Amino acid sequence: MDSVKLKFVVIIALCFGVIFAAPADSKHSLIVSSTESSNRETNNSLKINSDVPRIYQMHVKSNISNRFARTTITSKVRNIVTKSLEAVFSIVLPETAFISGFIMEIGGKNYTAYVKEKEEAKKEYEQAVASGLGAAHVAVSVRDSNRFTISVNMEPQSKAAFYLTYEELLKRGNGYYEQVINLHPGQPVKDLRVEVLIAESRKIVDLKAPPLRSGNEIGNENADLDPRADLKIIDDKTAIVRFNPNLERQKQLAHLLGTNEDDGLAGQFVVQYDVERDPNGGEVLIQDGYFVHFFAPTELAPLPKHIVFVLDTSSSMEGEKIKQLKEAMDNILGQLHTNDSFSLVEFNTNAKVLDLNNPNASVWYPHESNAYNYEEHSDEINFEKYTFPNAYLADSGNIKKAKDIVSKLIVRGGTDIHSALKVGLRLVELANSRKIDNINRQPIIVFLTDGDPTVRITSTEDITYKITTFNVGLRRSPIFALSFGELVDKEFLKKLAFLNAGFTKHIYEAADAALQLRGFYEQISSPLLANVTFKYGPSVTSLTKTNFPIHFGGSELIVSGKYGTNNLSLPIIKGWGAAGDVHLQPLVIERPASNIERLWAYLTIKQLLELKEVADTNMEKKIKKKALDLALRYSFVTSVSSLVVVKPNSTDAVETEKASSQDEEEDYDDGFDRFGGYQPPANHKQQVQGGEPTPTLHTTLRPKLPSTTTVTSAVAEGSSKYKLLVTALPWLKNVLNMNGILNLPSGGYKLGLNETITDNVDCLKSPIFLIGHCSLLHNCPHVHSLLTSLNVYNRHACILRNEYAGVCCPDKLFYSLLQL
Ligand SMILES: *[C@@H]1O[C@H](CO)[C@@H](O)[C@H](O)[C@H]1NC(C)=O
Ligand SMILES: *[C@@H]1O[C@H](CO)[C@@H](O)[C@H](O)[C@H]1NC(C)=O
Ligand SMILES: *[C@@H]1O[C@H](CO)[C@@H](O)[C@H](O)[C@H]1NC(C)=O
Ligand SMILES: *[C@@H]1O[C@H](CO)[C@@H](O)[C@H](O)[C@H]1NC(C)=O
Ligand SMILES: *[C@@H]1O[C@H](CO)[C@@H](O)[C@H](O)[C@H]1NC(C)=O
Ligand SMILES: *[C@@H]1O[C@H](CO)[C@@H](O)[C@H](O)[C@H]1NC(C)=O
Ligand SMILES: *[C@@H]1O[C@H](CO)[C@@H](O)[C@H](O)[C@H]1NC(C)=O
Ligand SMILES: *[C@@H]1O[C@H](CO)[C@@H](O)[C@H](O)[C@H]1NC(C)=O
Ligand SMILES: *[C@@H]1O[C@H](CO)[C@@H](O)[C@H](O)[C@H]1NC(C)=O
Repeated sequence: MDSVKLKFVVIIALCFGVIFAAPADSKHSLIVSSTESSNRETNNSLKINSDVPRIYQMHVKSNISNRFARTTITSKVRNIVTKSLEAVFSIVLPETAFISGFIMEIGGKNYTAYVKEKEEAKKEYEQAVASGLGAAHVAVSVRDSNRFTISVNMEPQSKAAFYLTYEELLKRGNGYYEQVINLHPGQPVKDLRVEVLIAESRKIVDLKAPPLRSGNEIGNENADLDPRADLKIIDDKTAIVRFNPNLERQKQLAHLLGTNEDDGLAGQFVVQYDVERDPNGGEVLIQDGYFVHFFAPTELAPLPKHIVFVLDTSSSMEGEKIKQLKEAMDNILGQLHTNDSFSLVEFNTNAKVLDLNNPNASVWYPHESNAYNYEEHSDEINFEKYTFPNAYLADSGNIKKAKDIVSKLIVRGGTDIHSALKVGLRLVELANSRKIDNINRQPIIVFLTDGDPTVRITSTEDITYKITTFNVGLRRSPIFALSFGELVDKEFLKKLAFLNAGFTKHIYEAADAALQLRGFYEQISSPLLANVTFKYGPSVTSLTKTNFPIHFGGSELIVSGKYGTNNLSLPIIKGWGAAGDVHLQPLVIERPASNIERLWAYLTIKQLLELKEVADTNMEKKIKKKALDLALRYSFVTSVSSLVVVKPNSTDAVETEKASSQDEEEDYDDGFDRFGGYQPPANHKQQVQGGEPTPTLHTTLRPKLPSTTTVTSAVAEGSSKYKLLVTALPWLKNVLNMNGILNLPSGGYKLGLNETITDNVDCLKSPIFLIGHCSLLHNCPHVHSLLTSLNVYNRHACILRNEYAGVCCPDKLFYSLLQL
């Protein structure tokens, strides 16, 4: 019955690059998935010649509703020759998008893809490879993007069609939303059409379709590349943008974009717009029990900032890179606002705080110039010994001196990232304690590096811990990390920035690097509010992140959640602005809106996956499970889920379903199974556990035995707090001594049931997060369900005021996200 012989090779490259293949006839299914990086790189050039099926139609339809975009790409191909040909469907999609659907129409039949758990798909893939099937990797050649590729063997003189859907939440930057559609059909297409439909709840403003981009450089907007798109405003809140180049125009554009005319158009079609907004509290939209809150206040003056530039001048920056860095800094320094202040640190083997007034008096840390003793690993160097220059006001004199000194930077030596960042934080502390005037400034650290740490502390994990725990009190500052070039450890910088309330941006090593740096700086140049907290009524649950350390002008904060059956009350937003404390409230709740539930799911999965990267090993599994649950429920392909294409026969589909449920029986050993469902296969689990760091008690505090004389009935058996605690932690009863003292490896400590200690003591290794704050056990109920035994508790224990046993309590930031 099924006469079409299919040979599938399927590739989907998410963050890591991947490849999965399976023969349709032997396994009944085809797996598309992602996996940790694969080295099976092969040649990327998809050769286009007459032996390639013709794409006679390519339609891209993007439906944007309340910033949430659902894009469907339809590609129809025809094999006109009398032999079998391989049709390749290859789509570049934004890094932030999740694929949510894929259908192939071959021989008049539709083959629909399903989203499945990744490990399962991997098993099938390995079988396919073992049975000798080829696999290929198509490298991603467009910045900040992923590629989806599938190739199908087409019978002579047959037709095929591919339908791919992906979804994403558009991000606001520099004052507008931007929808980027990659067009890379690989050949001129007779019927090429892009249609972007925008439906917003507020008036659409500044709608435009700027010149096409290559996707690999920015800045040189070429008027010849004007897409001449048709911009149609239906009403205030609805618009359609159409781009419909004919064959001749496609060739022309291909030529202008620097590709071979016969390879067709290869570029990005871009639509930009913004919406009119509530100047204060933002917009709250609701639909069927879900809400989303968009917040981008328009009437706040920027906060003055103290910006510390920490710049890599190690030898690897030699050549173009340092040149581009200088060029970018020249521009950035010129853009500092009045009332801003700044400091400059360059680092290589040692870090150097630059003195603008006398470059010869710049202060090195920890040692001069190239001085480095190979025995030296300690970071116990006393800052009091160093007299660093104060922050400089961003006045024209200082800016001129700074530009001059930056232009003379020279590269040399190794890369001591830890010392450089520590000095940066120290400068923030100094600026806060010996103010140059009466202005409170928002500190910001901009850290740029192109390499791995090579000097002193070289473990990226150690650096992350040490810097994150040092970044407290008067030193507290968000760290924005710029990774430069190909050798840099992007994952490390991502984690570091995430844990320090910042984000990372990769600067691609290309002619436009200086422009990329400037573009990044513009995003963070106008902080409007610090410590922004969204407060919702009690009926609200399943909230995404509600606390944001900093909000920048031109961007947007988004919170989403469920509000149950009750009416949603108006939220309150608190923050610290240029004029002091700010309390804002949106004016109304808007309804009905569309897409809100999917938007919520998208945002929740994104934040969970981000959190997974910095979570404790144990917690990582649970976060992954929760993300997977949602990804399966909403059919999103993420780094934890995969696409599976099943032959259109119901029995086959059922088999695949069965295979997936086998793994779901096991329970987590700590009994924490509220996220239900998925359990990684045994081999995976072992891997995870193998990587778990040895549990250690955090010992920067010197514990000593409390004086037992004063403790008579420390734990009043009848006390309700005690009862609650031992109900939550049954093992506790057996390990407390008569006096209510808990014996830990480092000594005996009180539970402090009557105490409320608000000391802000940082600690490592909370049960959820890598870091947290030390809290009395009864003050951190959120983690009780995770503390299943004394052994588990010991891993997360910390000591307060030398006499109380505490637990490293995770940052509140994510409680709601995890529903703890
Ligand atoms: C890929 O193939 C093209 C032509 O077939 C060749 O010019 C190019 O060098 C190859 N690239 C790599 C990385 O092998
Ligand atoms: C666009 O998406 C919205 C929300 O999902 C939906 O209501 C609308 O029908 C869609 N429009 C088109 C033309 O697909
Ligand atoms: C296959 O699916 C596409 C997209 O949903 C649809 O347009 C097409 O008609 C379907 N074809 C068949 C044969 O069912
Ligand atoms: C700079 O700060 C001073 C004092 O707070 C204030 O009066 C002045 O308006 C600020 N200038 C600008 C341009 O923000
Ligand atoms: C800094 O040192 C250089 C070389 O040692 C010297 O030529 C220059 O005059 C010094 N500059 C100042 C401001 O002291
Ligand atoms: C941030 O704001 C919250 C609530 O408004 C407040 O409890 C907290 O102390 C603030 N944190 C800082 C570091 O100012
Ligand atoms: C919710 O608000 C609407 C309109 O404001 C009102 O008609 C309705 O009774 C309210 N429902 C509840 C449960 O309060
Ligand atoms: C599925 O396969 C069975 C057995 O090969 C066949 O009898 C049935 O018609 C197929 N169903 C569909 C929908 O193709
Ligand atoms: C804590 O308070 C309860 C009730 O007020 C009291 O009985 C108990 O002795 C107190 N414990 C300590 C250690 O102070």
